[in-house]
Amino acid sequence: MPTFRFRSAAFLCGLLPLAAAAISFGQGGRAPAAALTPPMGWNSWNHFASKVDDATVRAAADALVANGMKDAGYVYVNIDDTWEGERDAAGKIQTNKKFPDMKALADYVHSKGLKLGIYSSPGDQTCAHFEGSLGHEEQDAQSYADWGIDYLKYDLCGYRKVMQKTAGADEERSRQMMLDVYTKMHDALRKTNRPIVLSLCQYGWGAVWRWGAEVGGNLWRTTGDISDNYASMSTIGFSQAGLSRFAGPGHWNDPDMLEVGNGGMNQAEYRTHMSLWAMLAAPLLAGNDLAKMTPETLAILTNRDVIAIDQDALGRQGDRVAVEGPLEMWARPLANGDRAIAIFNRGSSPLSYTADLRLAGAKPTAHLQDLWEKKEATVVKGQYTAMVAPHGVILLRAH
Ligand code: GLA
Repeated sequence: MPTFRFRSAAFLCGLLPLAAAAISFGQGGRAPAAALTPPMGWNSWNHFASKVDDATVRAAADALVANGMKDAGYVYVNIDDTWEGERDAAGKIQTNKKFPDMKALADYVHSKGLKLGIYSSPGDQTCAHFEGSLGHEEQDAQSYADWGIDYLKYDLCGYRKVMQKTAGADEERSRQMMLDVYTKMHDALRKTNRPIVLSLCQYGWGAVWRWGAEVGGNLWRTTGDISDNYASMSTIGFSQAGLSRFAGPGHWNDPDMLEVGNGGMNQAEYRTHMSLWAMLAAPLLAGNDLAKMTPETLAILTNRDVIAIDQDALGRQGDRVAVEGPLEMWARPLANGDRAIAIFNRGSSPLSYTADLRLAGAKPTAHLQDLWEKKEATVVKGQYTAMVAPHGVILLRAH
């Protein structure tokens, strides 16, 4: 991805009224009352990329039902890039031959009690150089609604060259152009009267967390693309520190889709990935081949106690509360008054950590439940001490 940064503090300050407006979304606001907890489901990109087809999506839907993931909350089946065909003479978007009948596919997914997501770009082309929605926003939104689509990931991609041509280095103008195209698609979706979750994908440019909800986004990517390795996952995940105040029911920071089970990380690292995303109230979109996963992968993706942290009704994203070399403690408050506490070891050898529960906002007399080991953890004088595996995590619920 080309880099694109907004530089001045004055610029950010200028956005504060927008941030305030974003928080007061809801009834009468721009964002619909959707995604009241972070969306959960599956997305084709991380594993299948351009190989996704109708059969892959049906197999993913079947697997979600058969392996218990649907019951655990994974309901969106999201087709990423490369489904798009040409436009017909009237400009209506067609599917390519990998997807013979999108309406039939949506009916199939719905018959399983699941929802179907799709992907497009505000540019003339998507990232994989398929047809984008530029100049056809209303028509495309209507096609999605007619097919029975429930979720749209709208990826800036081809629109970057329009921004470059029109705004050049003018960051404020570029930002406004992004606001305009996302608003345009949000309005087009709203006009269809079908509730469709709107996922913004523009890599966090222009501090999107400050205006994503204002333009009707239910979630917005905060970074570039994730890859299936610890360096990528941890760089993205830990860089979310400080963004918690921009997330809440209906409008979430999105540090990208899960790589759990794709093979590039070990079990400790995948637990870290899942735990960190849960602490971040991040969307949980599995990105692996659901039809061919190991019991260990399924156990990570379906740990109900961890999912309960992610999906907590209060919707308060976690914050980093302590750092000690490569060790970090994060915490988030939960709807019932409990606290989720995660202790991460970002280093490559085992390390002991002593957590002061007060730093995590928990009572020194709290009881701790270890959500991966499924056991009570011992607290002595308001402190909890444990060894944390390299690249590993201890995830606790304090009550
Ligand atoms: C961009 C997005 C990815 C994926 C691809 C598809 O890179 O950030 O998540 O959607 O495009 O082409």
